[in-house]
Amino acid sequence: MAAKQVFIFDTTLRDGEQVPGCKLNTPEKVELAVKLEELGVDIIEAGFPVSSPGDYHSVNQISRTIKNAVVCGLTRAVQKDIEVAAQALKYAKRPRIHTGIGTSDSHIKSKFNSNREDILQRAIQCVKWARNYTDDVEFYAEDAGRTDNEYLARVVEAVIKAGATTINIPDTTGYCLPHQYGEKIAFLRNNVSNIDKAIISCHCHNDLGLATANAIAGVLNGAQQIECTINGLGERAGNTSLEEVVMILNQHKHLGYYTQVNPKQLNPMSRMVSDVMRMPVQPNKAIVGANAFSHSSGIHQDGFLKDASTYEIIAPEEVGADSSKIVLTARSGRSALAFRLQKIGYSFTRNDVDALYESFLKMADSKKEVTEEDLHQLAAEYQPVLVEAV
Ligand code: KIV
Ligand code: ZN
Repeated sequence: MAAKQVFIFDTTLRDGEQVPGCKLNTPEKVELAVKLEELGVDIIEAGFPVSSPGDYHSVNQISRTIKNAVVCGLTRAVQKDIEVAAQALKYAKRPRIHTGIGTSDSHIKSKFNSNREDILQRAIQCVKWARNYTDDVEFYAEDAGRTDNEYLARVVEAVIKAGATTINIPDTTGYCLPHQYGEKIAFLRNNVSNIDKAIISCHCHNDLGLATANAIAGVLNGAQQIECTINGLGERAGNTSLEEVVMILNQHKHLGYYTQVNPKQLNPMSRMVSDVMRMPVQPNKAIVGANAFSHSSGIHQDGFLKDASTYEIIAPEEVGADSSKIVLTARSGRSALAFRLQKIGYSFTRNDVDALYESFLKMADSKKEVTEEDLHQLAAEYQPVLVEAV
């Protein structure tokens, strides 16, 4: 069976930019949008135009600049929001309006002081308003993760009838377990009569560290779009991380899915977002963290040096990362020490390395990492063991 495309909806410039301290100005947003298009994302959520004049301007400039990707603007289920978004997206070659409303009982009661019937009508209405401006309308059922499935199915059926072409099922609070989120998508596929007229999208938050797993569960149950951000940035604990879902689908080709994202650009893109937003990437972050291709324990280093695939399922060059590192710590073994010494020009015999290893361990126990400079010092202080002739 032919592999199916999963559309990548990047929301780094909208949900990602909601991270405290990550606010971007228009030139920064345009620069990142251009790189996101080069990376191969299908949809760029450029911002929330009604939220501020600055964001309106950014969405407008991105719309003028982007050539192939869909450019999307977020709105609430409010007529003014939709008019402003349509205006900001006026010059986009492929504009999308992303509108919606909270559908969980918690949102309906606490946020809107309303009831299910009223929210259903407001959902239909906002899609109709948006359809006056573009054929590409995405509807989000905010807090779908905690929305009753029967009611969610009614809302989804009604908004597709009203003209929504993509249906976003956000796990806004990151509450769902992967099997629950997957079952929710399967429920919609099986219980919404017109579901084949729309694309189902996963938008998962990471409050329990499950955003990536949930998005993949969604795809395995019939969703065709993933909303994600570079470095997993986003509100609170963040969103599904783009680099993770892309590489999961890439590594597990047997699942039968692919994306248009170029994996070689993942690390450069991650660095660029981190620099522009001034938001460091955690070192142990999958795919793009500084330690993603570092090996520090003796057992791992020995295996890796014999055959990289013993401890690496992805080669760093596949994702545009610097080459793998053998880091020297008190947990490192002789093979790693020999390798690193050789790398900086020493050709010690096995006996020499054995002897040097004792001094190395003393040094390594006193610090976090043994550096290249330390190795030169060890080598300089080394007195070869003279074997007496018999
Ligand atoms: O998390 C969420 O529910 C959202 C919507 C606005 C799409 O970001
Ligand atoms: Zn979100």
